[in-house]
Amino acid sequence: MIFECYEDYTALSERAAEIVINTVKDKKNTVLGLPTGSSPIGMYERISERFKKGLVDFSDVKTFNLDEYCGISSDHEQSYHYFMNTNLFNHVNIKKEHINLPYGNPENPEAFAQEYEEKIRAAGGIDLQILGIGRNGHIGFNEPGTAFGSRTHMIKLHEDTRLANSRFFDSLEDVPVAAITMGIKTIMRARSILLIACGESKQEAMRKLAYGEVTPEFPASVLQLHPDVRILIDEEASKLLEMEDSVLVV
Ligand code: GLP
Repeated sequence: MIFECYEDYTALSERAAEIVINTVKDKKNTVLGLPTGSSPIGMYERISERFKKGLVDFSDVKTFNLDEYCGISSDHEQSYHYFMNTNLFNHVNIKKEHINLPYGNPENPEAFAQEYEEKIRAAGGIDLQILGIGRNGHIGFNEPGTAFGSRTHMIKLHEDTRLANSRFFDSLEDVPVAAITMGIKTIMRARSILLIACGESKQEAMRKLAYGEVTPEFPASVLQLHPDVRILIDEEASKLLEMEDSVLVV
């Protein structure tokens, strides 16, 4: 894993956008795995800007989002469908039929999850999976204790995650109790992984990610076993890491 530290959120977002755009330039039909949360917003803004300037073309790109809340509709302002439309899809030329997000209210969650996995496979697998990270080490919505062999599945959200995400809702009671998420194995099958983390609240998670043991109790630790992982952090998030010239290889 390579940790790269940037002065601030702007510089980190620039770098993340640059990685995504270069990936798409190298392979026109790139399959991207996409995250939500506050961390990737700056990256999406910059990708949209580059698109407007004609610097990148997404017409052959396919996307698969990591997760979606259960129990709220796709047009709810806090749904990840809504998030993706407003932060990226409405601003670039990714074709509607190339966009894939887990549907939060499937009649048969197991069948839906299997279908999602099959779609990823049929698309040729994910080339670049972008991730945020929860304070408790969750990736996607794979909470502590999720099996490393897990595929797309429905999950009950931990109270810590609901509390962290309640800042986006009117009250804690409004935060969904469940979600559908790609599994750990789904994420690990991506050819390359880019994780973004910023701010003081992610310091401890970064320490565990870099130096902690590989354990389902800290889901992101599984990334230590992946051959191609880059982690972009800002100075605040890097405080517990021993970086040399803003880089740490572990
Ligand atoms: C949510 C998402 C995760 C995301 C995490 C961190 O729980 N399901 O994919 O990584 O939030 O979000 P933030 O970037 O806002 O800290």
